[in-house]
Amino acid sequence: MGDGDGKPAWQESDSTTFMDWSRYFVPRRATQIRIILDLVPNAGAGDGYVELCCGEGRLSEALLRARPEATLLALDGSAAMRRAAAARLAPFGDRACVTAFDLCGDDWRKLPQVPTDPLAIVSSLAVHHLDDGQKQKLYADMHNALKPGGRLIIADLIEHLSPAAKWVATWTWDESTREAALEHQGPGDPYQQFMATGWNYYADPNPDPIDKPSPLLAQLKWLEQAGFIEVDVHWLLAGHAIFSGRKAT
Ligand SMILES: C[S@@+](CC[C@H](N)C(=O)[O-])C[C@H]1O[C@@H](n2cnc3c(N)ncnc32)[C@H](O)[C@@H]1O
Repeated sequence: MGDGDGKPAWQESDSTTFMDWSRYFVPRRATQIRIILDLVPNAGAGDGYVELCCGEGRLSEALLRARPEATLLALDGSAAMRRAAAARLAPFGDRACVTAFDLCGDDWRKLPQVPTDPLAIVSSLAVHHLDDGQKQKLYADMHNALKPGGRLIIADLIEHLSPAAKWVATWTWDESTREAALEHQGPGDPYQQFMATGWNYYADPNPDPIDKPSPLLAQLKWLEQAGFIEVDVHWLLAGHAIFSGRKAT
């Protein structure tokens, strides 16, 4: 997060833009959430889930609804996002906890709120803020943290390796946003906002340095190197992929 250390980081203004427009900017949001829910192992009493960079808490809310036995720790670095997530998750009482963290740091891995052996760790649209080395360390640490049989599920932007593939990601993301914008009824034009904010990473010849997506194949290999089994890709559209790995029992 933007803490004044001079490094490029997610800002509170990014949180505002995302909260205002994510339902249009994120391709097939409801489908993505449904796929993640299908992949999350069923919880028994006492099982916990963790969401890294929960944003407004939409995925956390869906998880808590779908798995009434589970508790969930929702972590995010943005105060505005945490406020929105806390309000959204309040109806779940002490099954949900929203806490500050810095994804780039290590300290949160030892927070008392973090379950010692979560059954699932999920993250949507955030791991691309880490560089290659940080992603590899995250995947290794999450493998260590998970309960045997647990799953790490990542939904995220990926880096495409050829100009042709990048072009396909560019126009399919534009198209997805344009289609979603047709349903918009309030003030403002979501597609115009998408263009004006330069939100399409693939369309930008000089992308924001906070965005560091890595190629999908490299990330699948890093998951295997971390010890995950059943490493697989479940969905891909407009440069957005959902992939996961399971910790052996
Ligand atoms: C694009 S939003 C995605 C939010 C949510 N996961 C979703 O899919 O709706 C990225 C989120 O990552 C958080 N974030 C970015 N960099 C972070 C960091 N270094 N530490 C903690 N949170 C961070 C932001 O606050 C924001 O909530």
